[in-house]
Amino acid sequence: MSSLLKIENLHVNVGETEILKGVNLEVRQGEIHALMGPNGSGKSTLAYTLVGHPKYEITQGRVLIDGADLQDLDPSERARLGLFLAFQYPITIPGVKVADFLRHAISNVRNPERKEGEELMPMREFRTELRQTMKELNIDAEFARRYLNEGFSGGEKKRMEILQLAMLKPRFAILDETDSGLDSDAVRVVSEGLQKLSGPHMGVLIITHHERLLEYNVPQFTHVMLAGRIVETGDAALAHDLHANGYAGIRERHPEAAAEEAAAQEKEELTTTSS
Ligand SMILES: Nc1ncnc2c1ncn2[C@@H]1O[C@H](COP(=O)(O)OP(=O)(O)OP(=O)(O)O)[C@@H](O)[C@H]1O
Ligand SMILES: [Mg+2]
Repeated sequence: MSSLLKIENLHVNVGETEILKGVNLEVRQGEIHALMGPNGSGKSTLAYTLVGHPKYEITQGRVLIDGADLQDLDPSERARLGLFLAFQYPITIPGVKVADFLRHAISNVRNPERKEGEELMPMREFRTELRQTMKELNIDAEFARRYLNEGFSGGEKKRMEILQLAMLKPRFAILDETDSGLDSDAVRVVSEGLQKLSGPHMGVLIITHHERLLEYNVPQFTHVMLAGRIVETGDAALAHDLHANGYAGIRERHPEAAAEEAAAQEKEELTTTSS
């Protein structure tokens, strides 16, 4: 049976401010969903909440994978349930090579009984699998010996992301690709990599402003977020329309949410000018 990631009436605060105001979303294994919306609408907040970032406080609602509540689970426990977030480890860890990192991550995900510091996946087995996967993805073998994220270009960061996806084989992948600094090489790496890896075993939520990504990975569902709520859901045609025409139509169709968006922006401007 296919797995289900279910987000129910999710309300999330950052400090005193409510950012998500009742998000409902269901992603099934094998489905591709696009999450779009203007800057500041709450898309990354949703992604950070899913991974369990401590700054994002759930005040109401819940997130479930096959009925299991994620609320009290730490990021590695969430990973064991099959959840993957592209920006999960954006940091540079001194002295840790790509291969070491992947061996730890894979050992954690595949052996739920494993505790910190316990045995890792056997080296020989891991190496064979890594070599094979890198070959399939056309990633140079040398890449595994690089230090994690140290001096990575945009394209290399994306190669790392895709390699992680291929090795960890999560049931749900959340990709927050709003980074405006992505060059065309990086966009191509994610677009093609994701196209190769997605399939009936993986549910994908792509957060993006990049049309190319959705051309390679056509979403069955497109959701539009405005002022912390999903205000519309459609198919790939909706994503296409938003790329072509922007969010004016969405704001017109949802005047209440648009007013909330304007009020929040005004408040933010006041706090940034006064501080
Ligand atoms: N850690 C944080 N501290 C303070 N404010 C935050 C934090 N995270 C998010 N916010 C606020 O929450 C709102 C939503 O931000 P979020 O980053 O989720 O938007 P987004 O939809 O991802 O936008 P973009 O398309 O620009 O990536 C913004 O007003 C932002 O300032
Ligand atoms: Mg964002």
